[in-house]
Amino acid sequence: MKTVGVIGAGQMGAGIAQVAAQAGYAVLLSDVDQARAEAGKAGIAKQFARAVEKEKVTAADAEAALGRITPIGDLAGMAPCDLVIEAATEREAIKRQIFETVGKALGGEAILASNTSSIPITRLAQAAPDPARFMGVHFFNPVPVMGLIELIRGLATSDATVAAVEAFGQSLGKRIVHANDAPGFIVNRVLMPMLNEACFALGEGVATIPDIDAACQLGLNHPMGPFTLADFIGLDTCLEITRVLFEGTGDPKFRPAPLLVKYVEAGWYGRKTKRGFYDYSGAEPVPTR
Ligand code: 3HC
Repeated sequence: MKTVGVIGAGQMGAGIAQVAAQAGYAVLLSDVDQARAEAGKAGIAKQFARAVEKEKVTAADAEAALGRITPIGDLAGMAPCDLVIEAATEREAIKRQIFETVGKALGGEAILASNTSSIPITRLAQAAPDPARFMGVHFFNPVPVMGLIELIRGLATSDATVAAVEAFGQSLGKRIVHANDAPGFIVNRVLMPMLNEACFALGEGVATIPDIDAACQLGLNHPMGPFTLADFIGLDTCLEITRVLFEGTGDPKFRPAPLLVKYVEAGWYGRKTKRGFYDYSGAEPVPTR
């Protein structure tokens, strides 16, 4: 595997492109147009500049890795890729459209993978040119820091596809885990109920936002408390995945907390809208309740 395509130059796509380029792959990075793809590469350049400043990577290595990333505005440009990872918006219709378009460009051996956090892989595979060469490859945010990739095979995914994507993930220095195509896979199946439960606890007046966060951060040795993490992931994303767990299993234990629903309805999505469980408009985050 030499050339890797990444579709979607947002936070996840840019992170995947960065680690793939650092591992020596030629990377084609696309978004809805050339300008957005270029903006994604510019963001990666900033990450590399910070890494050079902290002496985590040499200036020469950073420059070489950045040089391996080519922004493209048209999915037809993905033709040379051995592996294409889709990290576009978490909307099934958008992903299906992407698979159909890129599928026409890819060669007969190329593998298509989705970084979806919650859409069933077997269902998505129906829009891929060959479901045997399609699977889930779930990265975690921030991609350069997080050491895990979840691999999810659909019903039709071939052993050769799984082996090739596993080898690719290992070449990035990540630990690979295999999950079945079940709602939330592994990490979100375990994480989202915790974040959702923190919302129930807050709504029921068990404790304040800072105390629940401090309790989990210091009492469980988590890097972030649940509200800080939910704001970091995006409350809209957390609610969406919680709904997938609820609807996919039919189990009422996964029902979304009313407070989480309210925050999303208010448009308070977390860091990306500068307001979630904390207000990020000032120098320091301020709890909103
Ligand atoms: N890109 C690259 N590097 C980054 C980064 C980014 N976006 N953000 C932080 N880093 C690096 C820093 O450079 C620093 O590196 P150094 O120690 O070598 O200097 C290191 O990470 C620590 O960063 P900071 O000192 O700035 O801040 P923290 O110590 O608070 O760490 C954090 C920040 C790594 C984000 C940490 O708080 C953390 O691990 N939080 C939990 C993140 C998490 O759980 N992610 C998974 C979310 S779930 C998911 O993605 C699945 C999806 O489907 C929902």
